[in-house]
Amino acid sequence: MTSDEAAPVILIDDDSDLLKATAQTLELAGFAVSGFSVASDALAALDVRFAGVVVSDIRMPEIDGLQLFDRILRLDADIPVILVTGHGDIAMAVKAMKDGVYDFITKPFAADRLVQSVRRAAEKRRLVMENRALREATEQAQEGLPLIGQTPAMERLRRTLRQIADTDVDVLVTGETGSGKEVVASLLHRWSRRAKGNFVALNCGTLPETVIESELFGHEAGAFTGAQKKRIGRIEHASGGTLFLDEIESMPPSTQVQMLRVLEMREVTPLGTNELRPVDLRVVAAAKVDLGDPRQRGAFREDLYYRLNVVTISIPPLRERRDDAALLFFYFAERAAARFHRPVPAVPAAVHRHLQDHDWPGNVRELAHFAERFVLGLEEGTQAPDPVPTADAAMPLPERLERYEADIIRETLGRNDGDVRRTIEALGIPRKTFYDKLQRHGIVRSDFSR
Ligand SMILES: Nc1ncnc2c1ncn2[C@@H]1O[C@H](COP(=O)(O)OP(=O)(O)OP(=O)(O)O)[C@@H](O)[C@H]1O
Ligand SMILES: [Mg+2]
Repeated sequence: MTSDEAAPVILIDDDSDLLKATAQTLELAGFAVSGFSVASDALAALDVRFAGVVVSDIRMPEIDGLQLFDRILRLDADIPVILVTGHGDIAMAVKAMKDGVYDFITKPFAADRLVQSVRRAAEKRRLVMENRALREATEQAQEGLPLIGQTPAMERLRRTLRQIADTDVDVLVTGETGSGKEVVASLLHRWSRRAKGNFVALNCGTLPETVIESELFGHEAGAFTGAQKKRIGRIEHASGGTLFLDEIESMPPSTQVQMLRVLEMREVTPLGTNELRPVDLRVVAAAKVDLGDPRQRGAFREDLYYRLNVVTISIPPLRERRDDAALLFFYFAERAAARFHRPVPAVPAAVHRHLQDHDWPGNVRELAHFAERFVLGLEEGTQAPDPVPTADAAMPLPERLERYEADIIRETLGRNDGDVRRTIEALGIPRKTFYDKLQRHGIVRSDFSR
């Protein structure tokens, strides 16, 4: 929850000298400025993911500043727009502010006046974006097993899942342990018209070979010793829904042959019968290894691999999408806090660092356990210096985020004995931002010096 990245500013002015000068002012203040001389080009660069502020001149040919504001309002009412005008038209300014323009600045203006306004607007936008990310995470959580992640890799994965969920195509999901293969399989089910049917998960690695056949195909009463009652097999049970074959790489060879038949014929024959029962299946298989690689495939049949490999989804390991670690951490911490009836403790900088630096060989599962241990105060060396809970799940989200931020700043100051240079370095934010934050949170730096 840091704001260490330069906030983007989209700047529009048809006067190229002014555009250059204003851009320079804002860049010096630490913003990432994109300048445009016509509003339509700026609009093309904007969408709901834009994480910054728009600063525009009002008098311009074609689309003027007020019309631009109107378009942005319809695109995303939470993008702050600051309008600049050479004419002190009070009536226009009042109306614009009423309509939701963030600020109205009259030329000529002091550089500081603009910078202050942009800074406040950028902070507001940042909170809106964090809010949205967390809300999305929570909404996903309410749908069932959520697939949390905002990195491009995860966005792409989600898009692919939406595209193929409602087709009947069989899917092979690959990924390291704990990376979310089962989550993906269950989403493919829930996002399809098969959601009304059963999601039947079968772990091919843990089922003893002796029972795997009757588990899969079912049996008649008396089909073999011990088969007192007739049993519907798991494959049939999944008919109309989804069959999830987990750890498919450990499926015994004899079962592989039978499975291949099921996939091709879409029918099963329960043990002890000669019946052919049709099944309406979508099969999702999961593997930890790359079955396409003969060295990793081992005893896995190549023909079964090709049969399953209509669509392959590979989930990247967490270390290749580190930017999701913090979001996942907060999600799991809050979930654990709710489950254990505990507040979420203040998150010290050491934890943030760990989230970024650790390699997470156990991927999301490992991270979830880490968050749980943290909430329970069992995580060595990461305890907050201040045991007083500072944020809890009953608070509105913006307040919670504010508290987290204040905690992180206090903790970093404490660790650095109130040394501003080291604290700023550790937090990775500009000096000015740092002082603004101290003021906003009412933190007194000298309280931390020795
Ligand atoms: N993107 C994600 N968002 C939220 N939770 C996730 C995500 N990915 C995984 N999880 C959670 O992490 C845990 C492990 O995920 P899952 O069981 O799907 O992993 P897996 O790839 O099947 O692992 P294994 O190969 O060890 O069976 C689960 O509790 C799951 O809900
Ligand atoms: Mg699994």
